[in-house]
Amino acid sequence: MKRIFSGIKPTGHLTLGNYLGAVRRWVEEEQYRTDALFSVVDLHALTVHHDPARVRRLTLQAATLLLAAGLDPARCTVFVQSHVDEHTRLSYLLECTAADGELRRMIQYREKASRAEAAGQGVRLSLLTCPVLMAADILAYGTDEVPVGEDRTQHVELARDLAVRFNRRYGHTFTVPRATRPRVGARVMDLQDPTSTMGKSHASPAGIVHLLDDADTVRRKVGRAVTDSGSELVYDRAERPGLANLLDVLAACGGGDPRDLAGAYTSYGALKKDAAEAVVELLAPVRKRHAELASDPAYVGGVLREGAERARAMARPRVDTAYRAIGLLPPG
Ligand code: TRP
Repeated sequence: MKRIFSGIKPTGHLTLGNYLGAVRRWVEEEQYRTDALFSVVDLHALTVHHDPARVRRLTLQAATLLLAAGLDPARCTVFVQSHVDEHTRLSYLLECTAADGELRRMIQYREKASRAEAAGQGVRLSLLTCPVLMAADILAYGTDEVPVGEDRTQHVELARDLAVRFNRRYGHTFTVPRATRPRVGARVMDLQDPTSTMGKSHASPAGIVHLLDDADTVRRKVGRAVTDSGSELVYDRAERPGLANLLDVLAACGGGDPRDLAGAYTSYGALKKDAAEAVVELLAPVRKRHAELASDPAYVGGVLREGAERARAMARPRVDTAYRAIGLLPPG
């Protein structure tokens, strides 16, 4: 069975975009089809200015939501990255494999570094090296495939390069992973800015539906979604992005083709109402299950402990091999 690794960074509340774009497919397909690891990659949340209590809270919340959404700990490994030391152990060896220049060239580093600088927050060294940590996340497990969005393919490329380079220098140690572009269930855009995706860390929350938003909040956000001028309702992503996004959301929640759905409406009001109700209905069972799990911290803690143990057992032998291969004396 193919091994896949996916990471979710606890820098914000999980959104409808995360759910429809990724998590739902993990739940419905990946955990059955592959040997999958799903990690809340909390170490990655420390690469930019952060609030310790918030990171801790969001880490537990993200893990709980993954379980609430239907990841089954009997079918896949759900764990918190910092619970498994192998990630940082391996990251250092990969820092000794990577070159300064190839990290400084990373597009995301440049963007985030200039944003941090503009905010007067200083650029953490870990922001430069986090792609190496991500490579360690992937390589520690002998991962075959990494499902990532377009903006992260450069990072998976780095993981490939480092695996090849390490293997060539020190002997075969790592599987060379490949990035797969997940067949996007739905690419959900920000309701206030339908040309950018509904991400976790967007400046304004008005256009972002969070998985834990209550029904009224969902209705308000969808109701205030920006639409386009033009009275005829047709699906056209380029010319009418706001309208297309609402149709995509409706189709992703309730099924159907967004183009066909367009023909069923004559007013934005009716479309927004139906889209909002479809989202409310989709999220209701996840919210309910999340509340149940959140009231049983011992259960969630146990799942994460077992997940970390399993992950550690998978990673440890490979990381130990890498330690020996690179020239470190094994402890007696
Ligand atoms: N860096 C990714 C992000 O910014 C999260 C991530 C960390 C990841 N390690 C990973 C994704 C390994 C896939 C595989 O969202």
